[in-house]
Amino acid sequence: MADLTPKQREVWDCFIKEQPKILLASGAKRAGKTFVFILLFLMHIAKYEKQGLSFIIGGSTQASIRRNILNDMEEILGKELKLDKTNAINVFGNKVYCFDGTNADAWKKARGFTAAGALLNEGTALHDMFVKEVISRCSYPGARVLIDTNPENPAHFVKTDYIDKDGQRLANGKLNIKAFHFTLFDNIYLDEEYVESIIASTPTGMFTDRDIYGLLWVAAEGVVYKDFNKDKHYISAKDLESVKMVRYFAGVDWGYEHHGSIVVLGEDDQGGFFVVEEHAAQHEEIDYWVEVAKDIKRRYGNINFYCDTARPEHVIRFRRERIRALNADKKVLAGIEEVARLFKSSKLKVVSDNVDRFKKEIYQYVWNEKTGEPVKQWDDVLDSIRYAIYTHTKPQRRKTR
Ligand SMILES: Nc1ncnc2c1ncn2[C@@H]1O[C@H](COP(=O)(O)OP(=O)(O)OP(=O)(O)O)[C@@H](O)[C@H]1O
Ligand SMILES: [Mg+2]
Repeated sequence: MADLTPKQREVWDCFIKEQPKILLASGAKRAGKTFVFILLFLMHIAKYEKQGLSFIIGGSTQASIRRNILNDMEEILGKELKLDKTNAINVFGNKVYCFDGTNADAWKKARGFTAAGALLNEGTALHDMFVKEVISRCSYPGARVLIDTNPENPAHFVKTDYIDKDGQRLANGKLNIKAFHFTLFDNIYLDEEYVESIIASTPTGMFTDRDIYGLLWVAAEGVVYKDFNKDKHYISAKDLESVKMVRYFAGVDWGYEHHGSIVVLGEDDQGGFFVVEEHAAQHEEIDYWVEVAKDIKRRYGNINFYCDTARPEHVIRFRRERIRALNADKKVLAGIEEVARLFKSSKLKVVSDNVDRFKKEIYQYVWNEKTGEPVKQWDDVLDSIRYAIYTHTKPQRRKTR
């Protein structure tokens, strides 16, 4: 049998050393999540050899349990696994019951059970009640629960009830929940050509981020800058050298507990914009930002700084320091529309070598589906970009639209 991948090894070590009650593997497809869980589950059952205990395998349907779990399990054990009348298999002298857990009442099948462990496949395909029932059925001393899953929308119970509680400990200090994140690249045993073809055939943007990087847990509707595509919109500092820039300007978002941020944008002779610098920091006073702005002014000249108007005293301070600070137009929806439009037409690019926080925010800046406003999180660098773009292009917009 092949060795574990480094990521699988990490999961393995955690299972043995930290012994979390509930262990999750979430992330990309074909990443090796189920494979390592099958091994761990078998090892776990082997610990109770010939004790006639009950274990649970949960999947969306019996067919998917066969496809995703039992086939690999047969290969590992080197023997055929046949379900009996009760949909159970015999493993190391114990009974492993296979439950399809999609329906609201699927949990009833697990009722009245005492199990010494469970392996739940594709957690997001299972019903909330079923997962909770299975966990509460795993009451035998030393029982463990393994859940693998692909990412889904961020409100999904697998995320809110388990993954978000990664690291949770019980009163006695024992680790209760541990979650691991997988990307496609974690499976070093996949054929290179196969990986390449998956990447090539996966739609860019959200699909790639979920299926290849296993990222996000963000609803398709959720991301604000949906058209942002890292393959299209990032440019290297090297490639930027050949861009003919006609002017520069900056955006400023004040922040202390949240990140404060100053971005520098360039405009080229084709009407394209480039985020050429990002400065983002937490817990910095105004003196710090004055220094950042002065340094920018030293390098780019006396450019406009479009500033968040929430802290007029900071704007005044900038002016006193001879920084050309202007009040930004902070219209949220119109500003987002403008920035999103530029992404859509690929007229806004970001110098990947010079940004850091942007790379996180762009995927985590989401709509609040209830209010229709963006959630005020992961917005610090994006806000400064929005202030700069929207205010800077306003005279232009008045002329052309
Ligand atoms: N350590 C390993 N050695 C050999 N083969 C492996 C190893 N890990 C995974 N594989 C194989 O790689 C393939 C993908 O692994 P696995 O099914 O565990 O991925 P997954 O993350 O569960 O994917 P999905 O989200 O699509 O269910 C499988 O064919 C599996 O047998
Ligand atoms: Mg799997």
